[in-house]
Amino acid sequence: MFEQIERVPGDAILGLIEAFKKDTNPQKVDLGVGVYRDAQGNTPVMRAVKEAEALLLKNETTKTYIGSHGDPRYGQAILPLVLGASSPVLEAGRASATQSPGGTGALRLAADFIATQLPGKDVWVSDPTWPNHLGIFPAAGLTLHKYPYVDAENRLDFGGMLAALKQIPEGDVVLLHACCHNPTGFDLSREQWQQVLEVVKERDLLPLVDFAYQGFGEGLDEDAYGVRLLAENLDEMIVTSSCSKNFGIYCERTGCLIMVAKNAEQMENVRSQVAIVARENYSNPPAHGGSIVSEIMNSAELAAIWREELTEMRDRINGLRRQFVEALKPYGLDEKYACVAEQRGMFSYTGLTPEQVDRLRDEYGIYMVRSGRANVAGFSDENLPYLAKAIAAVN
Ligand code: LMR
Repeated sequence: MFEQIERVPGDAILGLIEAFKKDTNPQKVDLGVGVYRDAQGNTPVMRAVKEAEALLLKNETTKTYIGSHGDPRYGQAILPLVLGASSPVLEAGRASATQSPGGTGALRLAADFIATQLPGKDVWVSDPTWPNHLGIFPAAGLTLHKYPYVDAENRLDFGGMLAALKQIPEGDVVLLHACCHNPTGFDLSREQWQQVLEVVKERDLLPLVDFAYQGFGEGLDEDAYGVRLLAENLDEMIVTSSCSKNFGIYCERTGCLIMVAKNAEQMENVRSQVAIVARENYSNPPAHGGSIVSEIMNSAELAAIWREELTEMRDRINGLRRQFVEALKPYGLDEKYACVAEQRGMFSYTGLTPEQVDRLRDEYGIYMVRSGRANVAGFSDENLPYLAKAIAAVN
């Protein structure tokens, strides 16, 4: 039977990891997959994580199953981080946390929940969005549609977005990026979030907010502005959160599905269904990443170290954005790429075309997603002059 199976190209983002490894160019630069890199180009384990792991190794007494919702201590750490320490939503017992295998796992749980519990609801994503969104929802049997997000001049098209949201059939699901929009780096202002809230209310839409980069934009609380605004002003919403980036525990697959319901009673009903979805997918989530996060968040000392390290990463990325534009000045390209300094998070939609991206890879060993998305954390003092020269050459 397998003779009928066709080979398909690998994942466009993850495939870059292998392609980069194989490249023998000594000046090669990896601006592909979204992992943080320090000035030396490494993705180190955070100090707070190392210390938490040492404690876990010493104190762990069992490796028994942790249940379909995961470790409750993890849920109790993530809910206030995402919704705010003094959130009225938490006070009212309206929110439920389910530990998941990464943010991707949380998205798949959300997709399966929508498919099984809210039949007939379609999902609307920004154009562009994280390419895996385009796979996850149809894989669960859902129909996907797009709303505009970026205009032809590579600017946030908020007018187009809002007009499209106003046309979405009542009750459908709208996927929003909480911050650090992947792939573009264009985020909504507070006023724009307010306008989105009004439309969501008007059309009775169900927001699904993907929150994979909390702390990488402006700050842990600042980045949560939109999520908290919606949670506090709507009866229902879904949030998918990830600890991959902000705790740097990518391979530990640590995420969380947060379901917000109208009241505690409905939340428990929803929660019971999410447990089934998790059970049918993978039964219990992997425990280690969640244990690291709860160990850190339950220690004032480790939490302070973690916050400091996260601030350092964010500041470094924002500094590199400005340095990139500066490096292009001698080539007269600083205005053309000025958006890179304004965008936020790990990624920039540079405006480079797929053909330019191909040339950068083939002629200079510079790797990024063909959409022109660059991982800004891959810039460094050392490679910026080379990058600027290469970009000038393909312009
Ligand atoms: C990315 O967009 O590069 C990251 O979210 C990693 C991934 O899984 O695609």
